[in-house]
Amino acid sequence: INVGIIYGGKSTEHEVSIRSAKSVFEALNKEKYNVSLIHITKHGEWLLATDNESIKPLDNTNSSKISVAPSQGLLADDKQVQLDAVLPILHGTAGEDGTIQGLLELADIPYAGCGVRSSAVCMDKDMTKRLLELKGIKVAPSIVLNYYEKDGQTYDDAYEKLGVPMFIKPVNQGSSVGVSKVSDEKSFYEALDTAFSFDTKVMIETGIDGREIEVSVLGNEELFVSLPGEIVSQTDFYSYSSKYLDENGALLNIPAEMNKETLEQIQQTAHDTFKALDCEGMARVDVFLTPDGEIIVNEVNTLPGFTSISMYPKLLEASGVPYSETLDRLIELSLE
Ligand code: DAL
Ligand code: MG
Repeated sequence: INVGIIYGGKSTEHEVSIRSAKSVFEALNKEKYNVSLIHITKHGEWLLATDNESIKPLDNTNSSKISVAPSQGLLADDKQVQLDAVLPILHGTAGEDGTIQGLLELADIPYAGCGVRSSAVCMDKDMTKRLLELKGIKVAPSIVLNYYEKDGQTYDDAYEKLGVPMFIKPVNQGSSVGVSKVSDEKSFYEALDTAFSFDTKVMIETGIDGREIEVSVLGNEELFVSLPGEIVSQTDFYSYSSKYLDENGALLNIPAEMNKETLEQIQQTAHDTFKALDCEGMARVDVFLTPDGEIIVNEVNTLPGFTSISMYPKLLEASGVPYSETLDRLIELSLE
């Protein structure tokens, strides 16, 4: 089977994507798959590695330029790259948001994970919440501001209405890029500026007092839902640096300790969330578990971190599906 890994990309999560792709490449069974490495640079150029030994920096000596043509797949130096399926190991905008998925649809290349619509919806934290609320799934109270609402009054009202602690997030970003936790009015305005530097829409969200629990979901119609895992953040919150830079930034408890009833409720919520958003293939559903047992969905990641120590593969492993089998399964699902 000819499998392409697409990684890198133009988003703020370029480096995270490369880390994920390295682990995916190492775990893929090379006897079963003939792997092509497709690197998207930070500027959006697509390159095909001419040797497939490892994921390394590419330039014009060890790669060919790729173009994508409707109904013709990927072309490298005008020759078609043989691909039966693609693993888009990209995070964030122009990768996780439906744009790559749309391009692959037009090029007639099967790909792992969510389709165009669910990718786009899940990338947008506001759209995600609105759809979940319609299905009766609980989400944290929030207000969304558009950049053109930059008048003080709207902001002041939002601050008064939600109260601290609150989180300010760009609506379309991943890995907590541009996210701040706010505990007073001064940091509120700074946090808004930070978030608006990443997006034209910003979400102000009530800080939920609860445990941070994540669940991996794998499947198309029939879903495999993993055991829940818990993030125990050692810093103020589970930020970009606690995720990727600071080795002691967070502890992952896999599986999370909880009673059977709560565990099943969380799995059911993850299942229902995946279905409500029309997801396919995979997603990691992140929730809060409050002290009185409420389950509040925080967000859904359609291309969750995939390093060998990331929650998505780890939770599946803890639930009986080894990393390389997860990849086999995702490739099979993409071909269904
Ligand atoms: N956006 C990162 C990769 C995650 O959700 O794991
Ligand atoms: Mg995310």
